[in-house]
Amino acid sequence: MSEHASSYHNTPKHIAIIMDGNGRWAQKRNKKRTFGHKAGVEKTREIIEACAARGVKSLTLFAFSSENWGRPEDEVSFLMELFVLALKREVKMLNKNNVKLKFIGNISGFNEKLQKSIKDAEKLTKSNFGLELNIAANYGGRWDIVQAVNSAISENRSNSDIKEEITEKLIEKHLSTNYLPALDLMIRTGDEKRISNFLIWQAAYAELYFSDKLWPDFDSTELDCAITDYKARQRRYGMTGEQLETPVVDSDNSGNSNDEAI
Ligand code: FPP
Repeated sequence: MSEHASSYHNTPKHIAIIMDGNGRWAQKRNKKRTFGHKAGVEKTREIIEACAARGVKSLTLFAFSSENWGRPEDEVSFLMELFVLALKREVKMLNKNNVKLKFIGNISGFNEKLQKSIKDAEKLTKSNFGLELNIAANYGGRWDIVQAVNSAISENRSNSDIKEEITEKLIEKHLSTNYLPALDLMIRTGDEKRISNFLIWQAAYAELYFSDKLWPDFDSTELDCAITDYKARQRRYGMTGEQLETPVVDSDNSGNSNDEAI
């Protein structure tokens, strides 16, 4: 029987968040946009803790998109400095709380200092087994798909015995998220309703939740609203509601099987 039928399910295993609204939050207070980014970092800490406390396995945060380079130069360099500082300041606490930190995106685009902080943070936390925190930095969904296809092709080229066709499964194997469970819930704050080139492949069957709160105003109560909303949804993966009414045994109790649901 199809494992997709286990559709009324519990806490999402993997949540992704587009943290939007820092700039507007600051402007509403007659402050510079950078003030909003600082508040955004504080909020990030609260939401990471809240996800860990709620048993979320993986949290993927959109920190800096491939397109964010187009922002005013001083904002971009402020963000770079902020990331280095935040990493330095937070990584010990994350490590103490058993958080495993990973970065996805084209990290080679960042300056040496930031690249080193990223590598050090990943190395320090690599054996942790609590919340898996993925920071998408210099990340774009289209970039991810293109790099996955290229990586699959070059693997094929270097392996003269096996020639694999490019399939969905093969692309997934090469996506930067290949070590993560399927994406269950994507949240966007800041009252905008689009995915903005975030995990576009991975979101194929994710539930979407849009909050009108600006990121610095989003809190654990708002997170609970998103999770409650998610839990009430029926994930059909292209099947009918009637098909899903048939009781099934969800062997690993995951309720989350869209590996094969594409
Ligand atoms: C969106 O606000 C936020 C960003 C472009 C990136 C910065 C994110 C943070 C500082 C949060 C902390 C993240 C980490 C991982 C430490 P916006 O500037 O697009 O807001 P606006 O839509 O109001 O202009």
